[in-house]
Amino acid sequence: MGSIALNSVEKWFGKVQVIKGIDLDIAEGEFIIFVGPSGCGKSTLLRMIAGLEETSRGQIVIDDRDATAEPPAKRGLAMVFQSYALYPHMSVRDNVGFPLKSAGMPADEVAAKVDEAARVLKLDAYLDRRPKDLSGGQRQRVAIGRSIVRDPTAFLFDEPLSNLDASLRVEMRYEIAKLHQTLKSTMIYVTHDQVEAMTLADRIVVLDGGYIAQVGTPRELYEKPANLFVAQFIGSPKMNVMPASAVSGIAAPDGVTHVGLRPEHALLAAPGAGQLEGTVDVLEYLGADTFVVLDCGAAGQVTVRVLGDSELTPGDKVSVQFNPDRTHYFDGGGTAVR
Ligand SMILES: Nc1ncnc2c1ncn2[C@@H]1O[C@H](COP(=O)(O)OP(=O)(O)OP(=O)(O)O)[C@@H](O)[C@H]1O
Ligand SMILES: [Mg+2]
Repeated sequence: MGSIALNSVEKWFGKVQVIKGIDLDIAEGEFIIFVGPSGCGKSTLLRMIAGLEETSRGQIVIDDRDATAEPPAKRGLAMVFQSYALYPHMSVRDNVGFPLKSAGMPADEVAAKVDEAARVLKLDAYLDRRPKDLSGGQRQRVAIGRSIVRDPTAFLFDEPLSNLDASLRVEMRYEIAKLHQTLKSTMIYVTHDQVEAMTLADRIVVLDGGYIAQVGTPRELYEKPANLFVAQFIGSPKMNVMPASAVSGIAAPDGVTHVGLRPEHALLAAPGAGQLEGTVDVLEYLGADTFVVLDCGAAGQVTVRVLGDSELTPGDKVSVQFNPDRTHYFDGGGTAVR
């Protein structure tokens, strides 16, 4: 239970096409993350899967059943939003049990389900509180609890942690990873946060303007981006990309116009010792690391990660060494060439 297939799905809002023919097979129990710039269609695609948004063309198959025309309630999916939408006048217990109670489940069964969800989400101590007496992270757990009790075939999350502060996000990220390990349910999760995407996903779907730019494991996307868009979207600070003509002495395959090198894969050497000459422009000291921003003339700005205690100063002349195993090549259309 919990396999989901998208077959050439499209979404049109009037004459505007927002989802442009997406094919994706999600296996039972997989943790899938949708990432991409604002407006690329992440929420729309998730809402189409949930049935909250009509699918204009194509097919949505849930557990081998054509669900394209099914209303949300029939699909057996649970959607968790960024805003928690809890009932303020109800206790946590009643909030979590509400969907079951309204479906007519007997009170003792509801209570057992609520207790189990509270145990999984570590909400036991808060069951008698009102939402206003909870932290943001606790409220988000209550919202998740409300979806768990329904035993959904899959969970759909739309940026569930984006309202939380940085340390709580880290904590909840861990909780969601544990939840996936415990429930083993299919999860589809939309986020802007690269670290969430890289750490939680079995596979990441990178969306670009209504198309899939690439689907792969976090490691595949990082090590073998299929195109310039993914190369510069995954990884922080982003991959340096420069015209191949500005870099001397690298053996680029035929048809390559641009080369890419991640800041963490570039090595600094004495002037003349590498493939690209530059002048230190800015040093971004972060403690463990320093990001050295170089002015490399025709190659533009290049960022190199060095150890935090680097002795470099602005104005220093340096050379960048390319590791051929870590150098990425792209053709004029932005497609990776290997
Ligand atoms: N009801 C609607 N009518 C017309 N256009 C819409 C409607 N809903 C969304 N859109 C458009 O569809 C595109 C995709 O929107 P969507 O909300 O899916 O983006 P997103 O990737 O979730 O962005 P964000 O990261 O900002 O949440 C946007 O250009 C948006 O303006
Ligand atoms: Mg969105």
